[in-house]
Amino acid sequence: MDAPLSDDLKAPRPASASRVSLSIITQPGQANPFGTLHGGVMLRMADECGAVAALRHVGRGLITTAAIDSMTFLSPVYVGERVEIVAEVTHVGRTSIEALIEIYAESLVHPKRRKVGSGYGLYVALDDEGKRPHPVPRLLSETEADRVRDEAAEARQVVRLARREEARAHRAEYL
Ligand SMILES: CC(C)(COP(=O)(O)OP(=O)(O)OC[C@H]1O[C@@H](n2cnc3c(N)ncnc32)[C@H](O)[C@@H]1OP(=O)(O)O)[C@@H](O)C(=O)NCCC(=O)NCCS
Repeated sequence: MDAPLSDDLKAPRPASASRVSLSIITQPGQANPFGTLHGGVMLRMADECGAVAALRHVGRGLITTAAIDSMTFLSPVYVGERVEIVAEVTHVGRTSIEALIEIYAESLVHPKRRKVGSGYGLYVALDDEGKRPHPVPRLLSETEADRVRDEAAEARQVVRLARREEARAHRAEYL
């Protein structure tokens, strides 16, 4: 059995403590005209699941989504299938939390779970007024695999921050 998490909201936490899943049976109203699940529906569920993982890590208060990236859809999902989203924190900065989000689907008639998508959510913890970024607990990093995970996440964050600069520049350029 896992050791209970510390009540100390500043104590470092393992990635496994944030792991969370959410599942639904897809409905006709969620489909596009071709009968497959709308990508936007999956994005919304992915964001919600990633946010819950981030909140579990933070253990308090408010968070907001700063970016959803690398969301890749591998195969279509059909109406009536069960969709399961799994998220886990993969990196934290001073106030930011990255979660890996994976999406699976299976037919209810022939249940065989297949991976249909994967991406990352980047969340920022906010203060009690919901205005300013707020520091978050560190992510426990103990093994060589954790070190590799941290390095990969730092590289992704560099790319995201470059995209944020690009987005800001476009706003100035086109409006
Ligand atoms: C996210 C937000 C709170 C960041 O506020 P900010 O004043 O720009 O704060 P900072 O620049 O200090 O960023 C805070 C942290 O978030 C990270 N961050 C902010 N925007 C980011 C982005 N687009 N991609 C990756 N990381 C980002 C920063 O690197 C920093 O991380 P760190 O503290 O771990 O080093 C602000 O941009 C915001 O409110 N955005 C809108 C969020 C929203 O409404 N989301 C709902 C979807 S519409």
